[in-house]
Amino acid sequence: MVIAENAMGEIVFVNSREGGRGWELPGGEIEKGETPERAAIREFREETGGVLTAPEKVGVVLNKSSDGERTLSQVHMVVGTVQGFDGKGDHSRLMSRSTPEGSSFDADWIDGLIDYALEARRRMVTQRMWEATAAEYADSVRISDSDVHYGPLLPGEASLALLPDLTGARVLDLGCGSGHNLRALASKGAQSGLGLDFATRNVDLARRQLPSGMDVALADIVAWAQDEDDDFGFGGDFDLVLAVFSVAFVADISALFNRVAQVLKPNGIVVISTDHPQRGEGLVADQRLAPANDVTAFCRTWRTDAQAYSFYQYMHSRAALVEAMSSAGLKLEAELAPAVLPLEEAREAPYFSDHYLTRYDEMAESPYTLILKARQSAA
Ligand SMILES: C[S@@+](CC[C@H](N)C(=O)[O-])C[C@H]1O[C@@H](n2cnc3c(N)ncnc32)[C@H](O)[C@@H]1O
Repeated sequence: MVIAENAMGEIVFVNSREGGRGWELPGGEIEKGETPERAAIREFREETGGVLTAPEKVGVVLNKSSDGERTLSQVHMVVGTVQGFDGKGDHSRLMSRSTPEGSSFDADWIDGLIDYALEARRRMVTQRMWEATAAEYADSVRISDSDVHYGPLLPGEASLALLPDLTGARVLDLGCGSGHNLRALASKGAQSGLGLDFATRNVDLARRQLPSGMDVALADIVAWAQDEDDDFGFGGDFDLVLAVFSVAFVADISALFNRVAQVLKPNGIVVISTDHPQRGEGLVADQRLAPANDVTAFCRTWRTDAQAYSFYQYMHSRAALVEAMSSAGLKLEAELAPAVLPLEEAREAPYFSDHYLTRYDEMAESPYTLILKARQSAA
């Protein structure tokens, strides 16, 4: 099954005359010795005349017997980018992601599948970027190990005082990077903690300097949000869940906050900091992709000296973040968009890099970071 997307977020469907199935996603049998990706390129060319680039296998759909006991066939889902295709033919056509009329497939099912596949590919691309740039990122940014940081050039916890007394606390850091906040939380008295990150290199860096009682696990927080059973042997009952500049990598923030609510103790606190939605609006207008599932993804580029890496983020409005927290039963307690430190103090910020000094004026002019703090109910 080939999910071929163009830059507008449209998907290629083919009109199958066989068996009167109508419009469906392209695809076919994998030939001997072929990978699913190579089969997708070939099938796509044969069925549409178009070129499929950057194909990624994102999962497998199992066709089960009606009693659900046996797997009748496996369908590999491959997502790619379509090129060289005018997209208007009778036999194959670019359409919005909703399954066109006249298809014998369930439109909601196909829509859900397409959303899942596109999001999974974005996450794979983003993970590769973090993997490739982790070492350089760690070198280029100077982050405090003693003050909890909330974002570039911002005052840290020592000034913002968002967190409760952490003595003996159990903490969870989502998208923990190389573990600076875990160390800062330990220095403030946290007794145990877990950091989750999906970049091996970040997890390795974090492991090198783990305070006692703290652990890190290589984990995708999107998968963690969906899997109630996987707690990495660490259990729940956290006093604090922290997510600093990581929720923008998660499309389904409702699922994330539901899971956060599950692992928080009664009265526990969650604090997130993320790109201020106002900043997102302006900066990324040219990188915006078509919205899917009411969330707008945007494609950005991280440039190193040697190479450019694409990655994807999601622009959650303030309202969407607050709504997701509240639906999960978390009560908003504080909301702030702190100004960056005055230029003469910015070098001392708990999160600093020269890169941000080059953008200082822009960061000082309009809010750069949004911080939200919410509390789990008492019972
Ligand atoms: C901007 S960095 C912030 C790191 C850290 N929180 C800090 O403030 O120093 C974002 C981090 O989130 C991680 N990340 C992004 N998407 C993730 C996902 N789906 N699952 C786990 N980690 C993720 C990246 O690997 C990266 O380390």
